[in-house]
Amino acid sequence: GLSASESRGAFIVLEGLDRSGKSSQCANLLSFLNKQGIAAEAWRFPDRSTGIGNMISSYLSSSADLDDRTVHLLFSANRWEKSSLLETKLREGTTLVVDRYSYSGVAFSAAKGLDFNWCKAPDEGLPAADLVLYLNISPEIAAARGGYGAERYENLNFQKKVANCYKRLQDSTWKTIDATKSIDDVQEDIRKAVLLVIAKCSQGQELHRLWS
Ligand code: TMP
Ligand code: MG
Repeated sequence: GLSASESRGAFIVLEGLDRSGKSSQCANLLSFLNKQGIAAEAWRFPDRSTGIGNMISSYLSSSADLDDRTVHLLFSANRWEKSSLLETKLREGTTLVVDRYSYSGVAFSAAKGLDFNWCKAPDEGLPAADLVLYLNISPEIAAARGGYGAERYENLNFQKKVANCYKRLQDSTWKTIDATKSIDDVQEDIRKAVLLVIAKCSQGQELHRLWS
């Protein structure tokens, strides 16, 4: 891990249901940070650019069928394969704005009925986010937002289960953002929380590991 006095970038994760607005908020946040002269990159999981990411992408578009536990482990492996680069970036002082992470991994698989602790286990030891921004929106409002795409999981009944599973993951690193507000108001709330955490990390706040 990193010593307590070492300046580093912040590890920020945005989580929420499909159609909660994460992707637009990540993009807006990244351009804000870069305009402020803060070194930052936007990442997302699944990272569909890798071999494992390709398998996940085929599964999500329903062109491939996979056993529930198998796909869960692929999502986790997709984070592990990026984890050393992720840590290097943070250590170099780059703040990472990440669209979904292990919290999605657990919430979506547990929503299928897989055991909650079994779902957490493969991600144990990965870098933990310094801040998880949960874009809170009811499954019904999310579904009404221009509808869902054609991907697996994008249906109201399943998203209701995901919302319940997310609730079980919330801890002191989470901040719930009211995602029913306007895009600009949501962004305003996000920026406030993010700037505080970036300051703490630049002053050497230690990087934690899942699931502590
Ligand atoms: P995306 O829409 O953000 O690209 O994510 C694709 C879907 O994958 C989304 O419905 C959430 C789901 N997902 C998991 O089931 N497990 C995971 O570990 C991650 C990161 C996403
Ligand atoms: Mg999606």
